[in-house]
Amino acid sequence: MKSRHVVLARRPDGAPVPEDFRLETRELPALPEGRVLVQVLYATANPGSRNRLGGGGASYARGMELGETMEGPAVGRVIESRNSAFKVGELLSGPFGWAEHVQISGRGMRRIPADTPSISAWAGILSIPGLTGYFGLRDVGLAKAGDTVLISSAAGPVGATAGQIARIMGCRAIGIASGAEKLKWLREDAGFDAVIDRAGANSVEAMAERIGKVAASGVDMYFDNVGGVTLDAAIACMKPKGRIVVSGQIADYNAEPSGRYGTRRVYEFIGKRLRMEGLVVFDYAQRYDEATDAMVGWIRDGRLKFREHIVEGLDALPALFCAQLRGEVFGRPLARLA
Ligand SMILES: NC(=O)c1ccc[n+]([C@@H]2O[C@H](COP(=O)([O-])OP(=O)(O)OC[C@H]3O[C@@H](n4cnc5c(N)ncnc54)[C@H](OP(=O)(O)O)[C@@H]3O)[C@@H](O)[C@H]2O)c1
Repeated sequence: MKSRHVVLARRPDGAPVPEDFRLETRELPALPEGRVLVQVLYATANPGSRNRLGGGGASYARGMELGETMEGPAVGRVIESRNSAFKVGELLSGPFGWAEHVQISGRGMRRIPADTPSISAWAGILSIPGLTGYFGLRDVGLAKAGDTVLISSAAGPVGATAGQIARIMGCRAIGIASGAEKLKWLREDAGFDAVIDRAGANSVEAMAERIGKVAASGVDMYFDNVGGVTLDAAIACMKPKGRIVVSGQIADYNAEPSGRYGTRRVYEFIGKRLRMEGLVVFDYAQRYDEATDAMVGWIRDGRLKFREHIVEGLDALPALFCAQLRGEVFGRPLARLA
């Protein structure tokens, strides 16, 4: 049988464009013993995938080869099985990438329960972004009731999950995002206590002033999804002994190493005794079920909301990924393939 894939055609020069990717049709061999054939239902990409494409960026994960199928979490259905652990018809969540069909061994796959509140959420809030929010907030950020928690890109899937879990844990959640629609959703649907518009706050001083207005006594924990001047502004607003979770640095993803902003406020770490720690969600793989069980419960009882931005077809993925990195997507970007 034939399967269509989107592959990396060339290394992006700065911000990726759809022409950096190419559609290919491949002939799949007869299914080998021990493998399952999965039809992908929803495919997506994480902004951090930019770092694996070369031409700028740097990642904790392996760089992608030219001609390789673009990576990304996905949801699919088993349509043929030569592995006794998997039955035809079962729904799986896994890193299937931008492909219509994949042959996999089943290792590292997660089964989607038949009674799930949402199938597509297993490529979104119940997969990498939601897990990043959950473990970043709790295990790296050590959130506790009463904390003031500041979150950048708060309307994105990672940030929105982290902020709502912070609220569930009894923290005060402050979200930074851009645009009236996102800010309204954060306040009225996701229940953030306060929101800050990023638009127009292009300097450390301007952003610090906005943070100071809604967190006059300071920030206990900053969940950083973006880096750049927002990070330095947050550092300026931290309370003594504050904690910073480094989840992502999207403001620097398209920059060459010499052009990255990084942070210019390290000196404040001394006087304020701050702590800053990086997060790699895969470190928590043994505990994914704990997080998804908790999040499914919160989705069911209405305390955890999520948004999706769904487009149709594999061909739409390159433009969707590029739009996500430009900040033009509100919600988890997903392509429905079947
Ligand atoms: N460490 C890990 O294990 C791990 C795992 C998954 C994801 N992540 C990281 O978590 C972060 C959030 O991921 P996500 O999937 O939820 O995506 P996301 O937050 O929706 O990312 C896109 C958003 O980033 C914001 N943004 C874009 N350019 C920006 C800039 N120059 N300065 C400030 N903000 C900018 C925009 O939101 P606004 O315009 O509303 O600000 C944009 O809509 C990403 O950095 C990602 O790489 C980390």
